[in-house]
Amino acid sequence: EDYQLGEFPDFMRKEMAEQPEAVRRALRGRLDTRFATARLGGLRLDPRDLRAVRRVKFLGCGTAYYAGQVGANLVEELARIPADAEPASEFRYRNPVVDPDTLYVAISQSGETLDTLAAVQELKRKGGNVIGAVNVVGSAVARECGSGVFLHAGPEVSVASTKAYTNMAVSFAMLALWLGRVRDLSAHHGTRLVTAMQQLPEQIASILETDYEVAAIARKYAHAKHMFFIGRVRGWPVAREGAQKLKEISYVHAEAYQAAELKHGPLALIDAEMPSVVVVPQDELLAKNIGTIEQIKARGGPVIVVTNADLPDGLADAVLRVPRNEPELDPILLTIPLQMLAYHVASALGRDIDKPRNLAKSVTVE
Ligand code: AGP
Repeated sequence: EDYQLGEFPDFMRKEMAEQPEAVRRALRGRLDTRFATARLGGLRLDPRDLRAVRRVKFLGCGTAYYAGQVGANLVEELARIPADAEPASEFRYRNPVVDPDTLYVAISQSGETLDTLAAVQELKRKGGNVIGAVNVVGSAVARECGSGVFLHAGPEVSVASTKAYTNMAVSFAMLALWLGRVRDLSAHHGTRLVTAMQQLPEQIASILETDYEVAAIARKYAHAKHMFFIGRVRGWPVAREGAQKLKEISYVHAEAYQAAELKHGPLALIDAEMPSVVVVPQDELLAKNIGTIEQIKARGGPVIVVTNADLPDGLADAVLRVPRNEPELDPILLTIPLQMLAYHVASALGRDIDKPRNLAKSVTVE
């Protein structure tokens, strides 16, 4: 293995820094500016096959599952096909109904996760149409699926997945655009998305440059015993992935909640010792998200926002800022500062970032 740390203190930091280049690789040769679409050659699907898809289900574990939720939202938004994501780890145990008109997408960085492989085998046994979204060429999930989209993230060594998540989300944006353009997504909308995807590498690089600010915020909140991660719709998988990253490498208890669910119970936990990280995209739900922040603040809870919106001064205690792009792509950019936040909290607490306790890079056991 000639993948070396070089100038970096650990692989997570190196892999976060590689995200602009990793996204460039994922996009290379797959965007079609002439027809305002994307094409994923490895899927071996033609427009008629794509038209036949009635539903899309994403299956993965942990971070791959959250990337699948980003994918499901993108497919519903751009192609108007029902889509959802499910943990691959549960799938085979619930005797799933497998539908021949559904496109199943098995997501795995390593391609060796036993639960994901078992979900693929269950699908194949029942005649399901399953493709892989895999980073490691020749891995078990890639072989079992036979066709799919390679993530082109390059080697990922750190247990905490970063660039693979980002490339999963980018790949699903291309899949959703493709599915949309063989249906009713207009050329105008397609062109906007193609242009927006081309901007992602530069925009991710600019977020990475805010490292100093993110580190200062992380140091301020690193003492917290618990944190909430709050999001709605596009922000919801972002919140889940942010909480996952924090738990995994810092051992700070983090819980993700959908914003509108707070009032149905968890609001009781809010006090000065419970910071909330609120994901606030500049979209049609902005006013609702501002309302959520006000609810938390009214109960004395500190609020960190990750946002690309112009928020009223003094609304939040700390702001993690990302550039604006097409709203459908917000989940990709909004996740990057949460990776950085988790990294710096873990580092302030002196954790072994690349090798968190009790975890393995790929889980090949049940
Ligand atoms: C990510 O930070 C985690 N280490 C974990 O959730 C991981 O994403 C999961 O185990 C799936 O791994 P895979 O993508 O290799 O299948």
